[in-house]
Amino acid sequence: MTKQKILIARATFPDLLARLESQFEVESNQADEIFSAQTLQEKMRDKDAVMVTASEAISAALIATSPRLKAICNIAVGYNNIDVAAATAAGIMVTNTPDVLNETTADFGWALLMATARRITEAEHWLRAGHWDKWRYDAFLGADLHGSTLGIIGMGRIGQAIARRSMGFDMRVRYHNRSPLTPQQEAHANAAAYRSKEALLREADHVVLVLPYSAATHHTIGAAELALMKPSATLVNIARGGIVDDVALIAALRTGRVAAAGLDVFEHEPALHPDFLTLSNVVLTPHIASASAPTRRAMVQCATDNLLAALAGRIPPNCLNPESITNNH
Ligand code: GLV
Repeated sequence: MTKQKILIARATFPDLLARLESQFEVESNQADEIFSAQTLQEKMRDKDAVMVTASEAISAALIATSPRLKAICNIAVGYNNIDVAAATAAGIMVTNTPDVLNETTADFGWALLMATARRITEAEHWLRAGHWDKWRYDAFLGADLHGSTLGIIGMGRIGQAIARRSMGFDMRVRYHNRSPLTPQQEAHANAAAYRSKEALLREADHVVLVLPYSAATHHTIGAAELALMKPSATLVNIARGGIVDDVALIAALRTGRVAAAGLDVFEHEPALHPDFLTLSNVVLTPHIASASAPTRRAMVQCATDNLLAALAGRIPPNCLNPESITNNH
């Protein structure tokens, strides 16, 4: 029997790749080149399944020229890089990697929040530059986390994990979400209280963004929203570029309209708006919120399990569009 053909679009853990190579004819990319849309189109043309990351845009056009494709397996929980509607219409299953990254990503949200509020990277750059000659009462004064109000926009699994961690800091939690949590979920999330986006922005000392990106959430935080925030507030984005209007945020950071921002994601990443690099009140990280060693392995493992199920004719554990089955070719 001829083996099914799969594309692993980016470099990955060699032992997990070997597992796939034992079952499929695998085209891999251990050199980790970034494929253009045209190269991706050529490589996907004869494949039965493809494993991609959030960096690969899987458009309707790419789907239309991949006649054998049965599954698109994302190594990410967010899947705004994939045209799911086009995949569904073409009978192609789309999968993501939820749950395995909740706690690690929540840890990182806290790391970024604390680094930003307490100016840790700014202080370290200053120290490394050799400026530290004496202790000063007013050096790098930041904002407190303990006892403050945490606002979480996007109260899914990761948002709730961030809220739970705030118990140890005696924080009040306010959240905004498409739909309110159940009273039981709110109780587990440090007695989180639902607010409109506007009320949350006015009330919070620290705002963390953890919502999925879509046309509806584009620029959830723009100039008007930044204008509602406290001038002493911190904004953290571990969700997706495009949720924040980067140009508006740069203006707000520059004028002190908001105190500081911690950003793991950017509108045109990996390209950054160059003005971010000129600001001292921003902590910048390269989209690494899920990047603990065990969790990154778990994500690839999860995507692998999804792919194996799809190519065995089963509905994968994390299938986002089981209705695609009825359109199956
Ligand atoms: C990472 O950004 C993810 O969506 O998992």
